[in-house]
Amino acid sequence: MNHQHETFERLKAMATKACGNAYSPYSRFSVGAAVIDTDGNTYSGCNVENASYGMTQCAERNALAAAIAGGSSAGSLVTLVIYTPGDTAHPPCGACRQVMHEMMSEESRVISCCDGDGFRVWARHEHLPDAFEFPEYH
Ligand code: THU
Repeated sequence: MNHQHETFERLKAMATKACGNAYSPYSRFSVGAAVIDTDGNTYSGCNVENASYGMTQCAERNALAAAIAGGSSAGSLVTLVIYTPGDTAHPPCGACRQVMHEMMSEESRVISCCDGDGFRVWARHEHLPDAFEFPEYH
């Protein structure tokens, strides 16, 4: 197994575990995510819903927030793996793509996987071309 594949398998295992902790009684759609930074630190997250539906937090953004809280710097995250149970690899929502744009590195990859063989991969610029950036910071 090459290094990239090993990292993918490691993040998939973490995302799958986090998915098992998802709080999704309203949609019954569980999602797990895991991310790695340039130093090899890893973090995970799951979706957390709320009776006030709009308060729902996605797995991907929770994983990214955990990385920042754990000390990773914005822009140092290189690979994020999303796991959803079943046979379909689901793409991340638009709000998560905007947050990924800011937190992940320019050459980063997002990989979506499931229980089947199907998976999808996006480079950061592919899944959100022309992302919003705060003018003074760039
Ligand atoms: N969800 C995620 O966690 N990530 C996404 O990228 C899309 C949607 C969650 C939010 C909600 O709890 C459930 O999936 C259904 O939308």
